[in-house]
Amino acid sequence: MVVLVLPVFFGCTGNASTVKSDDDVEKRVESLLSEMTLDEKIGQMSQVDPGVFGGLENLKKVVRNGQLGSVLNLIGAKEVNELQRVAIEESRLGIPLIIGRDVIHGYRTIFPIPLGMAASWNEDLVRESAAIAAKEAASMGINWTFAPMIDVSRDPRWGRIAESAGEDPLLNSMVARAMVQGYQGDDLSDPLTIAACAKHFVGYGAAEGGRDYNTTVISDLQLHNVYLPPFKEAVKAGAATVMTAFNEINGIPASGHKHNIRDILKNEYGFDGFVVSDWASIQEMISHGFARDLKHAGELGLAAGIDMEMASRSYNDYLKELLDEGKVDMEWVDDAVARILRIKFRLGLFDNPYVDESLADSLLVNVEHLKVARKLAEESVVLLKNENQVLPLKKGTKVALIGPMANQPYEQLGTWIFDGDENDSQTVLEAFNAFNGDNNVFFAEGLEYSRDKSTKGFAEVERAIAQSEVVVAVVGEEAILSGEAKSLAELDFVGAQGELLKLAASKGKPVVMIVMSGRPAGLFKTQHLAKSILYAWHPGTMAGPALANLVFGETVPVGKLPVTFPKGEGQVPIYYAHKMTGRPADASTWTHIDEIPVQAVQHSLGNTSHTLDYGFTPLYPFGYGLSYTSFEYSDINISAKSLSIGESLKVSATITNTGDVEGAETVQLYTRDLVGSYTRPVRELKDYQRVTLSPGESKEVVFELNSDQLGFYFPDGEFVVEPGDFHVWIAPNAAEGLRAEFELQ
Ligand code: NOJ
Repeated sequence: MVVLVLPVFFGCTGNASTVKSDDDVEKRVESLLSEMTLDEKIGQMSQVDPGVFGGLENLKKVVRNGQLGSVLNLIGAKEVNELQRVAIEESRLGIPLIIGRDVIHGYRTIFPIPLGMAASWNEDLVRESAAIAAKEAASMGINWTFAPMIDVSRDPRWGRIAESAGEDPLLNSMVARAMVQGYQGDDLSDPLTIAACAKHFVGYGAAEGGRDYNTTVISDLQLHNVYLPPFKEAVKAGAATVMTAFNEINGIPASGHKHNIRDILKNEYGFDGFVVSDWASIQEMISHGFARDLKHAGELGLAAGIDMEMASRSYNDYLKELLDEGKVDMEWVDDAVARILRIKFRLGLFDNPYVDESLADSLLVNVEHLKVARKLAEESVVLLKNENQVLPLKKGTKVALIGPMANQPYEQLGTWIFDGDENDSQTVLEAFNAFNGDNNVFFAEGLEYSRDKSTKGFAEVERAIAQSEVVVAVVGEEAILSGEAKSLAELDFVGAQGELLKLAASKGKPVVMIVMSGRPAGLFKTQHLAKSILYAWHPGTMAGPALANLVFGETVPVGKLPVTFPKGEGQVPIYYAHKMTGRPADASTWTHIDEIPVQAVQHSLGNTSHTLDYGFTPLYPFGYGLSYTSFEYSDINISAKSLSIGESLKVSATITNTGDVEGAETVQLYTRDLVGSYTRPVRELKDYQRVTLSPGESKEVVFELNSDQLGFYFPDGEFVVEPGDFHVWIAPNAAEGLRAEFELQ
């Protein structure tokens, strides 16, 4: 436990009695706003990066003049305090800066990438990880993280799928809520909490072809039912800020989208924090072909409702002129500044602007934080396959540990780890040696890095395998191959990893594959080579101990896929909540391409929605994940055959542990609305619960389902609950489960 002793000078505001009420805050905002000059107001609406802006001394000048509201990427508690001192003591009104940074899955203690966190389906742990990230970041003077990223992502080619919670609106909403609560805590003015930023508003995950920054075409039906709900949840959880996206949606750049930002986010959702652009996304409206020049871009950005401009300078350079010309409203400027000040007040920055420079010593990467990082890494790993129960291995088994990700302290951290340090990392090799004894671990990477095409290390791999009973191959992709601007056209393993796996499998010893990757990747052509597969995403600082615990059975896997695994990129987009179509695919109507008779007549094969080569099922469905034990689902029960609008019913099933060890299962509740005024998905996740069972034990899992959970948004954004027939499943994943029916009257 960390005991914090704050010097009086810093005035600890964590105590509830010092928290300002909303009324107080609003009064202070109003009074400050009334004292501000136009230049000072425009200053509050600008955010710059010191590196790009020409260093700290240059920054001090504009801060002193009251011409800057925020800085991103200012590193070091001392540097932050120094610049903050200039803002407080040397600027006319002493308005503090808000210091932003991308703290995406941990600050110095690195947790699994967000896609991995989502695979845990463990809201408490995700919240805890964000709270830890907030403490560590706050100790370095950071007040604001650009997270959570809650873009529903259905395309594994898109490198930023790594940062999201995957394909499902409900799971993204869970992560949105957990992270906002974790970063912000109960009291934003506590010096160890920071402001969250829900991003990227909106639709960024729908980039055509999975190519980052690309155009999106999103129907209003999808916008309201798939892409917006996580943002609504983030606002409900109290997210202090929202960031707009780089993409255009149906012809309008997200950063110039007045309807989405002003009408939906601010008015309909009642969001009272501030909206920041993404990096130069206001200026980029020129490249989009939406703005004529920087001045026009600024006009469109403000009209759309962006309160703070990140990196580009259209507000700084042109807002005055635009006001003079009557092209933008003073009301918009005042509203933007009020929103920014409101968050600064809520953060307690006016009363407590400085960071205690000694805090970091006890906080960064401390033992408690590492424990949570290990636990979350363990829970994020998904067991995809375990033929003949090869896993878990017995302690003392002779293991050939191979593969280019087995001992890569940097690569295991994943994307967006500006402040992570590979020296903190514990690798699989280190953890195997420690747990299994180094005389039982025969290590030979085979490849120096994931893209390595040279097979010169293979001879050593053969020698390692010759001395072992089991091969553990840690493969995947380096950190730099996922994340922003790291899209891929192909999903197969890069470099000579396919050949390495073939070599390993050819020796007649069971192969356990561990995959560290930022996306669902590479398994269709290689999975048959392994008896067991642990899909580990990029697990972070504690990858090694987490995976050693899983491989040797100290911990039983619980992870479930937050995203569908396609057989290949040609199947993308593929997601569980697809529509039925007029010609739904089914196994009896599909003939594999190799079995089609030569010169078969056009209509001799089933004309249903599939592809001749891959069929219509994915490699692994959403929600899928095995355990070292097995679970049986039985006796689905429904408390009523019908319910009226405003009522709820109970759906239950019995889950039994039919294996030999204790294990936990994430039980999922799905529904289908059979007939709608707009067609509805074949299944939608509505809820889930984790149940822990000893061998032979059964438990009844009960879900309460209310009529609101059965409604959906019409294209105009109206939420409608339509009477009709429904199916409901209690299921281990999106492709299986027990089904019942009911009617909504
Ligand atoms: C661009 C990214 O899209 C965004 O997610 C990030 O927060 C900003 N850059 C700031 O680094």
